Amino acid sequence: MQSVSTLFESVKVGAIHLPNRMVMAPLTRGRANPDHVPDNLMAEYYVQRASAGLIVTEATAISPQGFGWFGAPGVWTDSHVQGWRNVTDSVHRANGRIFLQLWHMGRVSHPDFQNGQLPVGPSAIAAQGDAHVPSGKKPYVTPRALETSEIAGIVKDYARATKLAKEAGFDGVEIHGANGYLIDQFIRDGSNHRSDAYGGTVPNRIRFLLEVTEAVADAWSPDRVGVRLSPTGPYNDMKDSNPAETFTYAARALNTFGLAYLHVLEGLLGHWSAVPGPRVSPQLRDAFKGPFIVNAGYDAPKGAAAIAHGEADLVAYGTPFLANPDLVERFKTGAPLNAPQVDTFYSGGAKGYTDYPRLQQT
Ligand SMILES: Cc1cc2nc3c(=O)[nH]c(=O)nc-3n(C[C@H](O)[C@H](O)[C@H](O)COP(=O)(O)O)c2cc1C
Repeated sequence: MQSVSTLFESVKVGAIHLPNRMVMAPLTRGRANPDHVPDNLMAEYYVQRASAGLIVTEATAISPQGFGWFGAPGVWTDSHVQGWRNVTDSVHRANGRIFLQLWHMGRVSHPDFQNGQLPVGPSAIAAQGDAHVPSGKKPYVTPRALETSEIAGIVKDYARATKLAKEAGFDGVEIHGANGYLIDQFIRDGSNHRSDAYGGTVPNRIRFLLEVTEAVADAWSPDRVGVRLSPTGPYNDMKDSNPAETFTYAARALNTFGLAYLHVLEGLLGHWSAVPGPRVSPQLRDAFKGPFIVNAGYDAPKGAAAIAHGEADLVAYGTPFLANPDLVERFKTGAPLNAPQVDTFYSGGAKGYTDYPRLQQT
């Protein structure tokens, strides 16, 4: 068997030491209560996966305006903080480390979550696809383009959510700049047709990302902050005319903050969010001077090889961690993996959530 030992080397990521290089990728699971509060079942799910070097939580809305997925959690009320405190305390008692993923969905929220109002985006351009609303799925709508004067308020929402994450006992936060949500909608020119300082040139399109990053870093500390990007991912109908240029510029600009890490989702062919054509993550790896996490489509040998060849410092695993609470142990021993059950990804309840068997149970 090919050596997978590089995955089990310890590593320092910003302010925290990780015992191994396997990151649990953020996974929306739709199990929060109707007020978007995490409950004991969510704590149990994360505790089961605490042997990951680092857990990144499911995407968590920073404000009612940023919310738009049935069953997703939030981080804007005291109840949210209390619910998350239960999760972080439980994970820490199990010797784990956990970052909260900060989320504003922008144009792919839905009027059903916005008191009948339109969701907001950089431009009035609809994405093709469906929103996960309480009654099932509904097509995305054409959003209202944000006024320039509204943007500073959203940046403040990110800062407030970061302070609440700190209060809730997290080890850090990850800014969700991937997968066609608000920050990504600003970055890529398929969804951003603005003519103000937030649109047009690449520096203008990444301005929102940088303002959010600065505010989040100031609200806590840059070494507690990671950023996630998906330069070529088509999810949520995303396109950019020159992803290599756009995202290399962004990765270089992020160097000024001294962040904990940059996390890049770029599917290996045949996997989640994969696109045919050249991958740009190697250019981002060169441009970013800090810990670099790769994701999508990795198994143990591919992840270990990416670290051994210097393509990454850490590897994030999404669906493998979803279906295998003891993924670290399974990779160490070469044990077979449970297969993820797609029909229970967002279905609510314990089935397909906390009942995936551990090795000794199989
Ligand atoms: C059920 C599900 C939920 C996801 N939710 C999120 C999310 O909340 N935030 C995010 O950045 N990515 C999300 N993703 C993407 C994963 O983090 C990851 O990039 C993807 O599963 C590919 O990695 P893998 O090949 O290891 O599974 C989700 C993916 C799946 C399958």
